Formats: sequence, C-alpha cells, structure tokens
Amino acid sequence: MRIVLGADHGGYELKEAIRKHLEAQGFEVKDMGTYSTDSVDYPKYGFAVGDAILKGEADLGIAICGTGQGISMAANKMPGIRAALCTETFSARMAREHNNANVLTLGGRVTGTGLALDIVDIFLKTEFSGGRHALRVNLISNIERGEEI
Ligand code: RB5
Repeated sequence: MRIVLGADHGGYELKEAIRKHLEAQGFEVKDMGTYSTDSVDYPKYGFAVGDAILKGEADLGIAICGTGQGISMAANKMPGIRAALCTETFSARMAREHNNANVLTLGGRVTGTGLALDIVDIFLKTEFSGGRHALRVNLISNIERGEEI
C-alpha cells in the first residue's frame, strides 16, 4: 500500500514518527513535507496530500497540523477527498469502514505519538464495508457536483 504524508510545523515531529513506523512495516511512503519545524502554511500540505491521492500516486494519506483541524478543512475542500480527523481508534476504524475516508488527519499537539501510531495502524488496515455506506458516500460526491441529494 502506498501512503502519502504531509504536515505543517505543528505536525512535523509526529509525521516523522509515522514515516519511520510505516517504513519499518514495508509501506511505500511519499513524504510531501514539511521537513523542519520552521513555520509554514498548513493548507499547502493538506492540498499536497489530497493531490497525490487524486492523481493516483498514493492509496491513502495522512495529514497533520497542530490540531488536525485546519489541514482537515483544507483537504476536505478537494472533491474526492474525504479527510477524517481522529483522536481515538474507534473513529479511525469507522472513518474507513463507513465513510471510506482516504485521508486521516491528526493533531500533532493533541494526540500523543503512541496513540497516534495505533490510530494510523487501524486506519490503514480497515477496509470500506461498502453496501448502504457506499450509497451514503456517493451522496457526498453528489454534493461536490452540486447535484440534488
Ligand atoms: C499552526 O500554528 C497551527 O495553527 C496549525 O498547525 C493548525 O493547528 C491549524 O489548524
């Protein structure tokens, strides 16, 4: 599985921990930055993660800022991107199983590294269950196209 990572300065350290964790497990990781704790603008990194997915360069993405809020808002502006901000493992599993989320967002100043790595593992191993949930996710796509739902 190919994973794309992106973070601003508030998520940089957690991104580094996640990158090492995923590479140790054999995932193919694409790191869109940032590459230091110097201050940067989180929407650019949310966009970079979403863009890699929409271009088919990655299967799932992980985007991190200080709270996870801003980068989640930015990524979710991209049609086809379903970014889920998770602070515990149940939501991470449901975001994949029910919502077919393709980006996990995390708060580097909110969620500790140990819990964040558990959230990542569960997000990446959970499959979309489809069925009635596919119908609901399709309604989100309809909204993106400006269609009636
Ligand atoms: C940067 O200071 C901070 O605003 C950013 O990382 C994030 O928390 C925004 O939502």
